[in-house]
This record gives sequence, C-alpha cells and structure tokens, in this order.
Amino acid sequence: MSIWPAESIWEAVAPLLPGFTVEVLPEIDSTSTELMRRARAGRTEPTLLVAERQTAGRGRLGRPWQSAAGDSLTFSLGLPYAPRDWSGLSLAVGLSVAESLHPDIGLKWPNDLWVKERKLAGILIEAATAGDHSQLVIGIGINIRPRPAEGLSTPPAALTELWPAATAGDALLRLMPPLVRALQAFEQKGFAPLQPLFDARDVLRGREVLTSDGLQGQALGLGPTGALRLLTAQGERDVHSSEVSVRPFKGNAS
Ligand code: BTN
Repeated sequence: MSIWPAESIWEAVAPLLPGFTVEVLPEIDSTSTELMRRARAGRTEPTLLVAERQTAGRGRLGRPWQSAAGDSLTFSLGLPYAPRDWSGLSLAVGLSVAESLHPDIGLKWPNDLWVKERKLAGILIEAATAGDHSQLVIGIGINIRPRPAEGLSTPPAALTELWPAATAGDALLRLMPPLVRALQAFEQKGFAPLQPLFDARDVLRGREVLTSDGLQGQALGLGPTGALRLLTAQGERDVHSSEVSVRPFKGNAS
C-alpha cells in the first residue's frame, strides 16, 4: 500500500466536520457505491473513503470509470447534507478542486476538470435518503500520472503535466480541507457567488457545443443556478439537466 497522509487530512478536516473519519482501502468495487451502501444502511458519519484500486469504478451517465492503480486518485466523501438548493453543486465541487490543484485547470460544464483540451478529472454527485435527512456522496477521480487512452478518442490529461512532483496523497491533502469548506459555503449560499469564479475557468464559453440530447449552439456561460446558457438557432436555451453531456462541436472531443 502507498503512503497516504490520512492523519494530516483528518487533522485538517475533523475540526470542520465533527465525527469525520478517513479510510484507505487497497481495493473495492467503487468508493461511491460503498458509501451509498453505507448510507442506505444508516451509516452516515462523515467519511472520506480512498481506494488504491476500484474494480467497478462508475462515471456519470452510467459510464465506467477507468483508473490505473498507483497513477490515479479515486475517492468519495460522504456526509449528511441539506443545502437550500442543490443546483450547481457539482460545479462548486469542481471549482474547489481546480482552485486547490492548479491555476491552469479548466472546468467543463457540468462535472469535468480539463487541462489543455483533455479530461483531467471527473466528479460523480449522488445523494441517498438516510432516515430523515439526505446523505451526499461525492466521488472524484483524478488522473495523477499519464495513462494510455484505452479506447478514448483523446488520451486523458494528468496532474503531473502541471505539477510534476504531484502524488495522489499530496493532491488529496491539498484539496480536502478547501472542499469541505466549499461544501459548507454552498450549503448556505448556493452557486450564485461562485459564478464569476467558474466563468474564469469555463473552457466552453464562447465555443460552439453539442449536447448529448441534440442541442447545438454557442456556450454563453452559466446562469445564476449553474445552468449552461446556449445561443441556438432558435434563440437562447438554458441546459439544466446534469443528465446530458456536452462537447465542443468543432475541436477536440471530450
Ligand atoms: C465522470 O467523469 O463521469 C465521473 C467520474 C467519477 C469517478 C470517481 S472515482 C471515485 C468514485 N468512485 C466511483 O466509482 N466513481 C467516482
């Protein structure tokens, strides 16, 4: 097993999240699947679950999430959560992770971190009802070192392109405390205050894009609740659903 800074993460996060625990497993099907199982069984204490290897990693829209043990960071954070409005949560998470890791990381609506036109990381947001409250499970996969394209149209980006000495443990220690603070701020204030910060990293803004449900237009940026504003031939449309994927129409595919 690699060396993980579990204690340092715990020391930084426990004052913000009482009852917080950190677990590192050599292997599991999926950290998000495991935290969802625990939530359904009533185990809702705030938990960071890190896996060195996932045998059934999941991405958005039912896609698999491939990661190479040792070259990736795969983890999920589960916690009780009650925001006034859930819209834009995945954007807030992506923004926090990008800000923690490097100024040159871009954000591709709704859930991806990009570097130089390629995907660096993905975010999977899920919620379970546990008793009388909602349990949030945020799953994040980050490519730390380069890995082969494995059937993807473009090879993924790696964090070491921007931060050559990065390890999975360094990245996790750097991003966790700000992520927890960002979640707590979002719970109170929602997405609106983050909109200008997202704009500064928005890789789609100004580009022609195509959504998976067939809408085509120019990306105009985001609305105050995090909807993607598109200028289509039929006029302006807001794309709300996180159940769609978006890619630049001319240029590299996602
Ligand atoms: C996406 O880009 O489609 C989201 C990818 C999310 C992957 C992470 S890896 C840790 C956690 N466990 C999973 O099975 N998925 C998330």
